[in-house]
Amino acid sequence: MISIANRFAGQVPRGEFHLLGEGRSAWAYRVGSTHQAVKIFFPSFAHLAKEEASVYQVLQGSPYYPALYQVGADYLVMDYIEGITLFECLCRGILITKEHILEVDKALEDARERGLNPSDIHLRNILVTTEGKIKLIDVARFRQTKNCPQWEDLKRAFYRFYQMPYFPKKIPPFILNLTAALYKRKFLR
Ligand SMILES: Nc1ncnc2c1ncn2[C@@H]1O[C@H](COP(=O)(O)OP(=O)(O)OP(=O)(O)O)[C@@H](O)[C@H]1O
Ligand SMILES: [Mg+2]
Repeated sequence: MISIANRFAGQVPRGEFHLLGEGRSAWAYRVGSTHQAVKIFFPSFAHLAKEEASVYQVLQGSPYYPALYQVGADYLVMDYIEGITLFECLCRGILITKEHILEVDKALEDARERGLNPSDIHLRNILVTTEGKIKLIDVARFRQTKNCPQWEDLKRAFYRFYQMPYFPKKIPPFILNLTAALYKRKFLR
């Protein structure tokens, strides 16, 4: 538990900040026991705050994305999503279903219908809420023009391997990280 409330004094609700996760460009914290989360970008990625906020503004009203409350020079305040990422589902052996996959497709379609190009769709950016609903986060790259094949590749892996009865449903994090690193270096495509 980290207290960084002073940094946001008067800007976001006061309270303790609980680390939710760390990505390649930011930390995310839950604000006390509220329904809000703050994403604070590392200094070299601070410029992404405005970009990600502008994408969330386009996505406002969609049931598949968190609502945005505030944007600052290097942070965003959005809905806290109570749930776990698909990455954690695999680590803990929590079943990922075909319905989850179809819901992610709908979330991406919703973004496309709003003129966006969903990108960087990986297992840590997709959450299953405690109510079993799908939510997508980390939309900073939804305006890139380049086609991102990650979700289509993940789906293929789901149908070809994960769904097979013999395929393990619980996978150690180091195997998942190794697979992601090999994929990134184009060894698996
Ligand atoms: N609103 C939220 N509610 C709950 N958990 C969140 C929220 N935002 C982020 N997280 C958690 O924090 C992690 C890091 O956040 P995020 O993906 O936004 O960072 P990033 O640096 O942009 O990630 P990436 O490495 O994918 O670029 C997520 O994988 C997720 O576990
Ligand atoms: Mg992320």
